[in-house]
Amino acid sequence: MRPREIRPRVYCVGAIDWDRRLFDALIPLPDGTSYNSYLIKGSEKTALIDSVDPTTQDVLINHLNQLGIKNIDYVIANHAEQDHSGAIPRALEKYPQAKVIATPKCKGVLADLLMIPEDKIITVSDKETLSLGDKTLEFIYASWVHWPETMLTYLREDKILFPCDLFGSHLATTDLYVTDEGQVYEASKRYYAEIMMPFRTSIQKHLEKIEDYAIDIIAPSHGPVYDKPEFILKAYHNWVFDEPKNIVVLPYISMHGSTRKMVEYLVEALTQRGVTVKQFDLAVTDIGKLAMALVDAATMIIGTPTVLTGPHPNVAYAAFLANVLRPKLKFVSIIGSYGWGGRTVEQLAGMLSNLKVELLEPVLSKGFPREADFKALDNLAETIAKKHKELNFV
Ligand code: FEO
Repeated sequence: MRPREIRPRVYCVGAIDWDRRLFDALIPLPDGTSYNSYLIKGSEKTALIDSVDPTTQDVLINHLNQLGIKNIDYVIANHAEQDHSGAIPRALEKYPQAKVIATPKCKGVLADLLMIPEDKIITVSDKETLSLGDKTLEFIYASWVHWPETMLTYLREDKILFPCDLFGSHLATTDLYVTDEGQVYEASKRYYAEIMMPFRTSIQKHLEKIEDYAIDIIAPSHGPVYDKPEFILKAYHNWVFDEPKNIVVLPYISMHGSTRKMVEYLVEALTQRGVTVKQFDLAVTDIGKLAMALVDAATMIIGTPTVLTGPHPNVAYAAFLANVLRPKLKFVSIIGSYGWGGRTVEQLAGMLSNLKVELLEPVLSKGFPREADFKALDNLAETIAKKHKELNFV
């Protein structure tokens, strides 16, 4: 695909990675991704905003060749992670006169990760501007989206915000702009859940900061460009500011059916009381779907059998993820079964220390659940429905 112009002399020159299925050897990418890089030709100077993952650097260089770019003055490094910075050394090789523009913190990380000589990097302060002649770049510090060194770049004359990872989506598509809002909402929510959610408080501040800017286009470094920026800004406002919803997330594992029986009973009991439940069998679930469900949920119930005196390892992994992702959860409980003993509740509770939640009375059944266990599950469902009502979620 050839470079595409999103505004006069502002080109999308990045790469689409249709087949990538895992990011950071951790995050599933069901829809691939893209590494968006942008070239801005001012009347006097030319700037490249972010580069691409090193595996696709030939695509970037081909795009620059197709545009006949003989000279680049500045490479703007909004973020030092290698999927955006990894091709900067190649760009500097091709355009040896170019200087890298970065925050002071980013300068150090670029030197550490990519061994870019420090004298090639010019640091900028918050809200500093850089003239390209008839186009002006303004740099907006935005630490912790999702590394400490990040900034956003704003192109004043064209009212384009280049936020790198922020507002992005792992979505490979030939569409330059968002055409299917449902598909992009899903992909950007997944992206937010997996990468941005732990930094909700920082993002709140950044959203307030960019309210001062007139923005016609948001051009992130993953996924399609937003020519109607209110779509993604509204979604982010909802994810980072709003209260959680009347939703229970229920990740669980069942080895021989006892925990599954409890899960089925509790799901029915909650549904009867008007609570939405999202149930995930951790033996088969896409962990990204679980992360997305945690964005809006008020309560998480973890279902697990006792294995070697503690929770099943898949459950421990899900608890670890929920703990590091820091969702807006208000309540947590644990249900499950055991054969002869164990410390499942204490161990799981200890894994959730980041979460500011109330632990509701767990329900553990010795062997297959019986009448007293079902009664306890009814009580748990009743408590959850009541607590959600008290918080005016319903
Ligand atoms: Fe898309 Fe933090 O890299």
